Parts: sequence; structure tokens; C-alpha cells
Amino acid sequence: SRVEYLNYEVLDDYGWSLGDDDLFEKAATIQLDVIDYGRFLVRPHESLLEAAENRGFAWPFACRGGACANCAVAVITGKLAMPVNHILPTEMSERGIRLSCNGMPMTETMQVVYNLKHLPELDDLQL
Ligand code: FES
Repeated sequence: SRVEYLNYEVLDDYGWSLGDDDLFEKAATIQLDVIDYGRFLVRPHESLLEAAENRGFAWPFACRGGACANCAVAVITGKLAMPVNHILPTEMSERGIRLSCNGMPMTETMQVVYNLKHLPELDDLQL
């Protein structure tokens, strides 16, 4: 799976929101650091978090077991399976929020916003 990623801090900095239709188009038109925006491949049997780490990125995490939500991402396009979830309420998973520590890409391409622990609703989950 080929993943296009964007750091949630960029949304904060530019006043963008997760619901913006043209989020990734906007990100592609400005000069962002490779830490904040880019693409990488996820190999079979890698979780999204493991793939990010194996490609040299330091994405947030803590428990690696589906219990803390530090690793949360927002799936904008594509599908990320989430076999283990002990923390995200249904209304958040219905909005496309997933845990990257055990999340496996299910589509050829995906667009995800990572570093979602700074999302106000996730702050309330006691990270
Ligand atoms: Fe804790 Fe993913 S690292 S839920």
C-alpha cells in the first residue's frame, strides 16, 4: 500500500480542518518538510506505525496495544483495518479515526493525517 501522510500540526498551523476536501492538494502545493508531508510504502504484515518507523519516521505511540490512542491517525482516503481497539469510542471510528499501531492498510493507496493526539477530542481521552 502506498500511503500519503500529513502531520496534524500542519493543519493546526495553517488553520485547516480534517473535513477539508482539498487537504492533501493544499499540502502538496506548499513546501513542507518530509517529516510533515510525503509518501511511503507499507509492506505486507507491517502495521502503519511499523511502516512509518521502518521508513525512518518517528510517529507518536506509547502502548502499541490499542489502549492509549497516542498513535491515532485520521484516514482521509483508503481503508485501515483496526483489529485491536480498547480506547477509541465508536463515534471517533465512524469519523475514520484509527490506531496506527495495529492498523493494517487494506487498500492500494491511502491518505492519512498522523499525530492526531493533538486533536482536541483525543486530548479528552486521557492520553
Ligand atoms: Fe497505544 Fe496505538 S500506541 S493505541
